[in-house]
Parts: sequence; structure tokens; C-alpha cells
Amino acid sequence: MKRRAFLGAALGALAGGSLYGISSEPEALRIERIRVPVADLSSDLEGFRIVALSDFHLYPFTQLPFLKEAIGVARGLNPDLIALLGDFVDSEVEAIDELWPALADLDARLGVCAILGNHDNRKGADIVAAGLRRAGVEVLLNRGVGLSVGRSQLWVGGVQSQFGGQPDLGEALAGCPAGVTSVLLAHEPDVADDVANDGRVHLQLSGHSHGGQINVPGLVQHVLPQFGRKYPFGSYQVGDLFLHTSRGLGTTRVPVRFRSPPEVSEITLVRR
Ligand SMILES: [Fe+2]
Repeated sequence: MKRRAFLGAALGALAGGSLYGISSEPEALRIERIRVPVADLSSDLEGFRIVALSDFHLYPFTQLPFLKEAIGVARGLNPDLIALLGDFVDSEVEAIDELWPALADLDARLGVCAILGNHDNRKGADIVAAGLRRAGVEVLLNRGVGLSVGRSQLWVGGVQSQFGGQPDLGEALAGCPAGVTSVLLAHEPDVADDVANDGRVHLQLSGHSHGGQINVPGLVQHVLPQFGRKYPFGSYQVGDLFLHTSRGLGTTRVPVRFRSPPEVSEITLVRR
């Protein structure tokens, strides 16, 4: 009887966990607040805040009202800059037609910038990028921009996805003056080793891995994609480079998240 009761409890917990993973966690948005220490940060950039959203994957599993909620949260944080880290669509590129009007609601003091992800490239990079531009988003694919912050500058560069693109760090940083604090948007986190070796970037923001999406200890541990295995979620110091990998918002392949809730990242630059 005891054994049967235990088995029943275990099965109940598993069923409850599965229900939670399917019905609740995919929309249990969490704000992650990250402080990034930067050597020689100018006083103009002290406390500069970037809000990052990643891996929207609109349709078939991730729905628009949830993404609109995340967009509202990002906007409500009143950031200096918003960075969108790719994978706007999942299985149909037409989803961007519904997503871009929602993205147009994003607002930050110095604007909104974006890169594309592997799913965007697979379904139609030009179409996704055109939608983003219609929403007033600056698309940074192997290029960068210098933003004026007080009397200082912040460089924001972006690289293409490794899947269907060719990330070019040199082009993303072309024109970045020496000594200027620089942020790199790169969909796949594991390029961080190359970025750290290059030595010019202070902060890299990535997504791609969904934090593994499903993490059941001893059963399914971190289902991780290529180029998202070494630095799958959270913050890392890679040499002098600070990397933050967002768990992203949406789901792909299966409509489940378990112990990997969707994330809005709020990044604050502080002087080291
Ligand atoms: Fe993704």
C-alpha cells in the first residue's frame, strides 16, 4: 500500500508538473535584473539601462497576447534602450505581419534595435527585417551605430545568426572609436569565445537556447541547440567580456517550458 501510495504521489506530481509546464510556465513572465560592471565606464553611462527581449516565436505555440504582455512590461521599465535578440517568427514568416504592429509599441529613450535569429533566416530574413523596420526598429545585421549619451558614446553592434548568415564582428564594430563602451547583439551565445578573444566588446546579449526550455532533473536536462550549449542561460564572465543569455519569451518544437520561465532582461551598466 505504501509503495502504491508513493507511486500514486509520484505520478500525480509528474502529471501536475506536466500540466504546469504546458499551461502555466510558458506565460509566467519573469524580469531578470542584471548589473554589468564595466571598466572605465563614463559617468554619462553609469546606470544606463537596456531591456532585452528574445525568441518571440510567434505561432504556432506562442500567442500574440502573451508577447504583447512582455512588450508592455519592457516598455513599462522605461529603459534607455531596447534590444530585440532574434527569432521573431517560428514556422510561418507571415507571423511578422501581426508581430510588427505590437513591436511598434516599444519605446525607449534612445530607440529600439534588433538582430535576426536562425528561425527568421530560415523562413525569410528580408521579410522579417522589413517588418521590424516598419515598426521603427533599427536592424543591426553586421553593422553598428554610435548612440550619444550625454557627452559620451555607446556603441551598439549586431551580428547575423550563424544559421543562414555570416556573423562579422569586424563589420559590427566598424566605426566604433577606441575606448568607447560597446554592446554586441548576437543571437547565438556561444560566439562569446570569439568575441572575448577579439577584446573590443564589453557586453554581449544573446538568446537562442530558451534556457533549455524543458529542464526535468534526471529526466530531460536542458534541450540545447547548436551554438547555445556552452553558455545556455544567465550571465557569464568570458575573459573581459560580460555575456548575458536570455531564456527568451516563446517556445519552439513543443508548447512547453519547465523550470525555464520566459524572461524580460533588464541590464544596468555600472562602473567597475
Ligand atoms: Fe529561439
